[in-house]
Amino acid sequence: MKEKMKAAIYKEFGGAEKIEVTTVDVPEVKEGEVLVRVKAAGVNPVDAAVREGYLKDFLPYEFPVIPGWDVAGVIEERGFSARRFEVGDAVYAYARRPVVQHGTFAEYIIIPESYLAAKPENISFEEAAGIPLVGLTAYQSLFDAGKLQQGQTVLILGASGGVGSLGIQLAKNAGATVIGVASEKNHAFMKELGADHTIDYKTRNVGDATKEIAPDGVDLIFDCASGETLQQSLSALKPSAKLVSILNQGQNLDKSIDFQYVFVEPNSSQLDKLRKYAEAGKLKVHVSNTYNLEQTAEALNQIQTQHTKGKIVIVP
Ligand SMILES: NC(=O)c1ccc[n+]([C@@H]2O[C@H](COP(=O)([O-])OP(=O)(O)OC[C@H]3O[C@@H](n4cnc5c(N)ncnc54)[C@H](OP(=O)(O)O)[C@@H]3O)[C@@H](O)[C@H]2O)c1
Repeated sequence: MKEKMKAAIYKEFGGAEKIEVTTVDVPEVKEGEVLVRVKAAGVNPVDAAVREGYLKDFLPYEFPVIPGWDVAGVIEERGFSARRFEVGDAVYAYARRPVVQHGTFAEYIIIPESYLAAKPENISFEEAAGIPLVGLTAYQSLFDAGKLQQGQTVLILGASGGVGSLGIQLAKNAGATVIGVASEKNHAFMKELGADHTIDYKTRNVGDATKEIAPDGVDLIFDCASGETLQQSLSALKPSAKLVSILNQGQNLDKSIDFQYVFVEPNSSQLDKLRKYAEAGKLKVHVSNTYNLEQTAEALNQIQTQHTKGKIVIVP
């Protein structure tokens, strides 16, 4: 049994200066849980938002907090009745628990095995660690909430980042036409991922540019950017269309819009689907940078820029 591990922690909410990298106890592996050796941990904007305390009224927490909700790693130990995986199996997970406390920016994490799915075999641990949170977000937004169908057109706002870059691919796999919105420097990247059309929010009114491409409007707007970009895009919604946002919870939106806010939930069955797409070569993760545990604060500063291309990952 592993008793100590290196982890990034914070003992109070605040900025990057609150992060320390230290040695902490590894909790005991309980019934239904496994000990996973973290090979890579994806970094998400929410990790910085939680550290700043923005979600403290919404998600219970216990200090010290180890940040990080994405993991790809190897099963090292199994608790009583945890028998879905063998010791040594490679797995990945969106590891958000009901209480914010034990995250993935550490050498190990203990987690109920129900959160885990087998890691896609054909991609690296770094790439796999970039899938769970953003892949599930894109999946739950496009299909569970957005009901995206083959032949429909989807406009993705903020399409070159973590969620959007997987969203483009999932929408294409479903047979949709994809219009991706990001700055000009990321247009070739969005096209490589499968976007049929791209729009630069810095130089165009997003609604006008969308209507030049799809004169009747789009069937779904998947909003991963919000703000002015979202407001501009609304003029391109077909009358029967849906708007799904992962940022806006209904503020400044006309009540007549068929709108849904999504907050991503762990779902290992959907991770299995994402694994199959990855193994079929239909879901790729662009890891634009990797950091070690000591660079956790730096990684969180980068993700807070809101201009990360693809994913960034911590390798403990
Ligand atoms: N509710 C949920 O469950 C949930 C889940 C995941 C993420 N989120 C939130 O959703 C947002 C996106 O997450 P992410 O991981 O994809 O972030 P990310 O990796 O930082 O990507 C940000 C994306 O937004 C684009 N962008 C920045 N400013 C923009 C603007 N004014 N108009 C249009 N696009 C703009 C960036 O493109 P350029 O670099 O080209 O500007 C990039 O494509 C974050 O705020 C995150 O906290 C919510």
